[in-house]
Amino acid sequence: MPPKKRTAIYPGSFDPLTNGHVDVIQRALEIFDEVIVAILRNPSKKALFSTEERLEMIQQSFNGNSALKVDCFDGLLVDYARMKHAVAIIRGMRAISDFESEFQMALMNRKLHKDVQSVFLMTGLRWIFTSSSIIKEAAQFGGDISDMVPKPVRQKLMEKFPLLVEKLEQTPPKKGS
Ligand code: PNS
Repeated sequence: MPPKKRTAIYPGSFDPLTNGHVDVIQRALEIFDEVIVAILRNPSKKALFSTEERLEMIQQSFNGNSALKVDCFDGLLVDYARMKHAVAIIRGMRAISDFESEFQMALMNRKLHKDVQSVFLMTGLRWIFTSSSIIKEAAQFGGDISDMVPKPVRQKLMEKFPLLVEKLEQTPPKKGS
């Protein structure tokens, strides 16, 4: 019998995808046969991008990798994980400040579904301070976030924030970070 495919779910808001998320996804792809990036459909949370826009940006950023799937879910994460026969839930860990809420969520998920393991992956040091919210805040006022998000996301942020286009046109390309 062929070995069972090991699927992991990487859930989140991804409003929008950052290079920190990309780093976690790449690490997860080294461990699991299939990684499903699952965007929570949450009408009560105000988002910059629609679920469809977020899905499209992630797909475009990983174009051609057959081990990576992108999907949306609502309701309980563990129900979605069960439906996909996932063995793990991936969460990125940046700093100690992430720990408490992640720990609480992981224990609740374990209580609800004991057969799915929470797996925490550390982002590369380069991305330790990145988050979707801080990137949106900087982009809104024209801050250059070009090297913190994949190209399709940068493009979409420019569509949302005209000030970003203006500022990027004035700024000469950077040598490094
Ligand atoms: O990117 P985020 O906003 O930190 O992601 C949070 C997410 C989507 C992973 C979490 O809110 C979630 O799993 N929501 C679905 C409802 C659920 O199952 N909650 C956890 C147990 S109560």
